[in-house]
Amino acid sequence: MDSATLLARITDYASRPNPYPLYAELREAGPVVPQADGSYLIGTYHHIAALLHDPRMSADPRTRGEATHKPPFLRLDDPEHHRLRTLAMRPFGPPHSPGRVDGMRGEIDRITRELLEPFEAGRQIDIVDDFAYPLPVTVICRLLGVPHEDEPLFRAWSDAIVAAADVRPDDSTEPDKAGDQARMEMGGYLLNLAEQRRGKPGDDMLSAFANEPDPALRLTDEELAETAVLLLIAGHETTVNLITNGALTLLRHPEQLDRLRREPELLPRAVEELLRYEPPVHMRERIPHADIDIAGTLVPAGASVVLVLASGNRDPMRFRDPDRFDPARPDNQHLGFGSGIHACYGGPLARVEAYAALGALLPRLGSARLVEDPPPYRQNAMLRGPRHLPIHL
Ligand code: HEM
Repeated sequence: MDSATLLARITDYASRPNPYPLYAELREAGPVVPQADGSYLIGTYHHIAALLHDPRMSADPRTRGEATHKPPFLRLDDPEHHRLRTLAMRPFGPPHSPGRVDGMRGEIDRITRELLEPFEAGRQIDIVDDFAYPLPVTVICRLLGVPHEDEPLFRAWSDAIVAAADVRPDDSTEPDKAGDQARMEMGGYLLNLAEQRRGKPGDDMLSAFANEPDPALRLTDEELAETAVLLLIAGHETTVNLITNGALTLLRHPEQLDRLRREPELLPRAVEELLRYEPPVHMRERIPHADIDIAGTLVPAGASVVLVLASGNRDPMRFRDPDRFDPARPDNQHLGFGSGIHACYGGPLARVEAYAALGALLPRLGSARLVEDPPPYRQNAMLRGPRHLPIHL
């Protein structure tokens, strides 16, 4: 088949249960694969890693002429990105220490136990709705200081924002109205919560942002709103896929599930392997500031370059036997959290949640079976994961 239609075939909903054969085709056709819509696909590990570290590549959609307001720092370039990232990381604790995340460990275990209480043998449950979704939402709400009762409110906003951020072929440069509207409403809601805490801070991140005494370190209202939206969504939409993909992968590999039950100390390595083998984030977009030669292909300024992180994770030039799920895999420098200046800093939190969730699920999964395989998937190709994962205990 024609490699110029790969992005269209990957994003086609029919490919959601198993995009990996298309990623193999992409690596074969690569390293740089021009698409019929003018974008470029990259699926080989070393080229992706190099481009994530290349200052000639922009993360800002405005670089491709998109008429939009200033994006959150996930999609800004340095030096602006660096300033906001540094400020937004401060309430997480001092750099290179788990800080606040460590303090959440006991609470994460408690939330996990509470969610698992009703899981009795003989019952059918949905891993997504009953477990993998409520856990990270509860945790990020607690960290930010957002009332958990408001969750249904921002779930709708979050859905609209994530849908607008998906990678699509022939993506028009028109801003997505529903996504923008949702971002504004959610930002306004979070800013309002922060304002209520000005002068009477609690032990949460919105309070820390709203009560920063040093004017040089203070976020503007717009920055505070964008940053809080980013953190809430990042904490909402990714960890759920890591936990769900974890349960699905273990149920598909009963011998590995058995091994983990016998050797629970392997769990942290198994979570790294899940981030490689079934990562929650499949692709990220970058845009060259000026014309650039990538591995012999001239990519024009402003073009959309789609880095398929999940394909890099299955590249046989980097990982031995990449399609095998090996919870004890050595040398596992996956691209699950990205790399370079935008590398995820929620990683330590996501890992603690995944250890607690999968550790608590392990004893219960031994006699469980999947009700549907493959399960129904969510629409999104970039943030890929099951919509539901019904299992029989
Ligand atoms: C399993 C869960 C998670 C995965 C797989 C994940 C993945 C990623 C990836 C791949 C990026 C890089 C994006 C790019 O290069 O364009 C990223 C960035 C980011 N993530 Fe995560 N993430 C997870 C959880 C979290 C959590 C829990 C938080 C916050 C509480 C978070 C906050 C962020 C932020 C703020 C950025 C932007 C960093 C920057 O632009 O400098 N993430 N994440």
